[in-house]
Amino acid sequence: MQETPGHPDPRTFPFEVWGRLQQRIWRNPPEDLLWCHDPSGYLPLRRALADHLRVTRLLQCEPEQVVITTGMKQNVDLVGRLLLDVGDRAIAEDPGFTWFVVDSLGIGVVRAPVDEEGLDILEAERLAPDAKLAIVTPSHQCPLGSTMSLQRRIEMLRWAERRNAWILEDDYDSEFKYSGSPVAALQGLDGGHRVIYAGTFSKALFSTLRLGFLVLPPGIVDAFVRARRGIDTCPSILAQPVMAAFISEGHFGAHIRTMRQVYRRRHQALLAAVSANAAHLFMPVDSVTGLTIALQTAPSLATKMSDRRLAQLAVGAGLHASPLSGYCYDKAALHGLMVGLGTENESELTSGVAKLTLAIDGELT
Ligand SMILES: Cc1ncc(COP(=O)(O)O)c(C=O)c1O
Repeated sequence: MQETPGHPDPRTFPFEVWGRLQQRIWRNPPEDLLWCHDPSGYLPLRRALADHLRVTRLLQCEPEQVVITTGMKQNVDLVGRLLLDVGDRAIAEDPGFTWFVVDSLGIGVVRAPVDEEGLDILEAERLAPDAKLAIVTPSHQCPLGSTMSLQRRIEMLRWAERRNAWILEDDYDSEFKYSGSPVAALQGLDGGHRVIYAGTFSKALFSTLRLGFLVLPPGIVDAFVRARRGIDTCPSILAQPVMAAFISEGHFGAHIRTMRQVYRRRHQALLAAVSANAAHLFMPVDSVTGLTIALQTAPSLATKMSDRRLAQLAVGAGLHASPLSGYCYDKAALHGLMVGLGTENESELTSGVAKLTLAIDGELT
């Protein structure tokens, strides 16, 4: 079993629909699919995405602003390469997911604190007044699960204006919000001037698809398209027309709606199982979004067992889990587990928590 939490459920993916669309398009493909090299990606997919994002995330965007990529890691890589120079610094959330990608570009990374309102941009500005970019997960902070407050969103936009800086919005897990009204993307609030919106199909569909996208402010589109051409001519065309049809014919929206209900039930089941069995061991971090739940370790357990060991026991108990410390630059900053909801159903999650509790209690006595 893989330890990585946050994978969507492969058992519920509508492969029959996908297969039908694939067959329809690729049995006898139109010639332009074979010879047209559009480095920004297949136009009908960019159109379908722009329509979808305007309605569901209140983005302000046109298909010309959309560039298809291979997912979030390439989104961060492209933005870092094109908008930052050697010696520039980027702000990344700590704990977070992207700092290691920025690190790999040789750009200075300033790791900024997050709390229940999301990234604290004013503290980040104090740490790095010269930063040129901030990478944030406003819909679902990874790994702590907070949704960025309106106050912080406004502060972020003001910071970007004041510092002439960019914001890369990773709209991570925005599809899966289980209560309260949906919160619109930061890009829409900004009108698309300073915010680069980044998306991936890794969470809504599956991550080996390697399909993602950027929505760029109009003034920087050309630079990204040229870079995209230089990297590999154009993104692979095989999945793009299928994805375009999947979105525009309503299957994508239907799949998200179904999965939101499925994951909501699992979210509730995991929290109930922790409260019933493992309240002496873990404190779930309050969150109403996403494919994972962060469980912080009770102080009495944290002193007795590393969270790497906890993750091994969790995997042995049939859960998809990884240590929370793995998301922190300073590994001692957090202690606990990230548990995935994507691959186990309610009863598997409930029995996984019961087995994990027994395993931990057994190891401690
Ligand atoms: C915060 C965050 N954004 C996006 C992704 C998806 O990355 P990719 O599109 O490269 O698969 C992940 C993967 O775990 C993630 O943790």
